Amino acid sequence: MTVQYIEYKGIKFPPGYNSVQSLCFAENKFEVRDDDIFNVTYPKSGTVWMTEILSLILRGGDPTWNQNLLNSLRAPWFSTQLGLETAHHCPSPRLLTCHLPVQIFPKAFFTSKAKVVYTSRDPRDIVVSYYYFTKMCTTYEDPKSFNQFLESFLSGDVPHGSWFDHLKGWMELEGRYDIFFISYEELKQNLRGSVERLCRFLGKELDDAAVTSVVENASFEAMRRNRMCNSTMLPKELMDQEKGTFLRKGICGDWKNHFTVAQSEYFDRVYQEKIQGRKGIFPWEQTRQDNI
Ligand code: A3P
Repeated sequence: MTVQYIEYKGIKFPPGYNSVQSLCFAENKFEVRDDDIFNVTYPKSGTVWMTEILSLILRGGDPTWNQNLLNSLRAPWFSTQLGLETAHHCPSPRLLTCHLPVQIFPKAFFTSKAKVVYTSRDPRDIVVSYYYFTKMCTTYEDPKSFNQFLESFLSGDVPHGSWFDHLKGWMELEGRYDIFFISYEELKQNLRGSVERLCRFLGKELDDAAVTSVVENASFEAMRRNRMCNSTMLPKELMDQEKGTFLRKGICGDWKNHFTVAQSEYFDRVYQEKIQGRKGIFPWEQTRQDNI
C-alpha cells in the first residue's frame, strides 16, 4: 500500500495523527510548563518502555495508573492533533512523548525549566525493530525488503528522518539543558539502577519497595500483559496485530539475526562516517570495540 507521508521541514512523518499544522504548532506554539517531563526518542528506541517507567516513578511505584489508563493518555503525543488536546487537559506534572528532532522541538522548552529524558538505542537493533513495525503499522509504507529498508534508514530516508541527525542534534544539547541521556542497553543491563538514576534526575524519592514495583511493572513480560501499553487496544486499521507484535522481542543484539556480513560492514562504514568526531562512547560501541 502506498502511504502519503506528511513532510515538515524536510522530514517525513506518518500521516493519520500527524499534520503540518500539528507539527508547526508543537514547534512554535506549544506551551511548556516548568514541571513538564518530555520522553524523547527516535522511533523504536524504547519509547513505550520509558513511558511505563516514568509513569510508575511519578506514581511512586503504584501500578494502578499504568494498568488502567492507556499510555497515550498518560504521556500524550503532543505533536499530533489528538495528543495536543490530551496534553492541554493533563494535570501537572505532565508526561509528554515525541520523536521530534531537536530543530522541531517546542521552542518554549529552551526558556523553561522542563526536563527531557532522551533514550537512545543501538541503531542496528532500531533498524530491525523499525522494519517489523512498518509491516504492522498501516501509516507506514510496507518495506520492499530488509535490505531496502536498511538502505533507506542509513540515508535518512525514513519517517522521522535520519537517526544520526536525531541523536547528534540532541547530544549537542548535553550539559546545556535539563536533559537526561540513557540508552535502551542500560535499561536492559540494569533496570533497577536506571530507575534509581531517573528518580534522582526527576527529584523523586522512592523507597526500595517502590523501585521494585517500577522494575516489575516495567518488565517486558508485565508490559506484554498490560493492554494499556501493549498496543492491542489500537484499531486494526492502524496496527494490524496479525502482522506482528508491538512488544516483539525486547532484546539487545537482534540485528545479528538479521544482518548479513556485507550489510554489517556497510552499516559500520556509514556509521563511522556519520558519527566520527563525537566524544564519549555508547554502550553498543563498547560491544563493537570488545569484538575487535
Ligand atoms: P523490539 O522490536 O526489538 O522487540 P518504541 O516504543 O520506541 O517503539 O520501541 C519498541 C521497542 O522497544 C520494541 O523492540 C519493544 O519490544 C521494546 N520494548 C518495549 N518495552 C520493553 C521492555 N519492557 N523491555 C525490553 N524491550 C522493550
